Amino acid sequence: MTRIVITGGAGRLGRSLVAGLADAGSEIVSLDRAHPAGFARDGVATVDIDLSDADAAASALRDARADALIHLAAIAVPFSAPEDVILRTNAGLAASVLGGAVDAGIPRIIAASSPTVLGYGAPTGWAPDRFPLDEDTPPRPWNAYALSKLIIEQSVQMYARQTGDAVRLASFRPCYVIAPEEWAGAPTQQGHTVRERLDDPALSAPAVFNYVDARDVADFCGVLLGAMGEIPNAETFFVGADDALAREPLAELVPQYFPGTERSAAVLTGTSPAFSNAKARRLLGWSPTRSWRDQLVDAPASESRKALA
Ligand SMILES: NC(=O)c1ccc[n+]([C@@H]2O[C@H](COP(=O)([O-])OP(=O)(O)OC[C@H]3O[C@@H](n4cnc5c(N)ncnc54)[C@H](O)[C@@H]3O)[C@@H](O)[C@H]2O)c1
Repeated sequence: MTRIVITGGAGRLGRSLVAGLADAGSEIVSLDRAHPAGFARDGVATVDIDLSDADAAASALRDARADALIHLAAIAVPFSAPEDVILRTNAGLAASVLGGAVDAGIPRIIAASSPTVLGYGAPTGWAPDRFPLDEDTPPRPWNAYALSKLIIEQSVQMYARQTGDAVRLASFRPCYVIAPEEWAGAPTQQGHTVRERLDDPALSAPAVFNYVDARDVADFCGVLLGAMGEIPNAETFFVGADDALAREPLAELVPQYFPGTERSAAVLTGTSPAFSNAKARRLLGWSPTRSWRDQLVDAPASESRKALA
């Protein structure tokens, strides 16, 4: 049985990863500052810990005797803390957690990055040469959160250079994560409901209308863990839904919010998302199985996936 350490297991994305990977038969050790009552269950152990304490992190990672690590713990929202705190915290966690996992001999290591590394929303403008955006699109972080995520991706590559193929590493960029309860109306990360993000495109535009169901991310991580021995080391993957979180085609919406993209966004017809998940499909055989069109509770029939197919 695979034993997986998940940092940030009590968070928005972590809860679905813990549940999904435990249901799939793995033993989970969740490391987080605190866990809600009742979080631990058969196959799920919890450790309350501040992972920015490198010694404590190293010892928890050694004690876990794990086959794999998925590192999610971070300040997860841009500008939710002073810029220096976000940079120090997230980059520091990359060193204490990823370095601690390498030292503990954990052979498979996955770290959460973010699509924000691409730099959309920059006050000086952002107009990529082409859509859809993919892993070859040059990163241009413009704030501490995005920069900290690029540091995490670079840390993954750094540890691969240190360890060769003895340790298999990867990073992934989950799109705007929708946890299961959010389809039924619980607030999403930015405080709005999914329906509000659909009704007012200005709410979803800052993420370039990207999203992914947290359970699809759990499935992705399970597939990635199984494939890490066979794919090139230290790869990065976008993990997003097959469609955009929008009712109108992005060919119309994107140029309204990102001046200068009129031509490049013209390919985003129908329900196409701005972010490609083709690399994960190609290298791993993973694809998302959930869409807002079939998950949003009480979605009118006209919005069903069938109607738009
Ligand atoms: N939610 C999204 O839409 C999204 C999108 C892209 C990337 N990500 C990334 O995915 C990861 C998880 O995001 P999330 O939305 O679940 O965030 P979250 O804030 O809900 O969860 C993060 C968890 O990390 C824990 N944590 C933070 N610092 C810690 C520390 N020093 N020690 C121990 N635990 C600590 C927090 O307590 C929290 O439970 C993050 O790395 C985030 O940057 C999230």
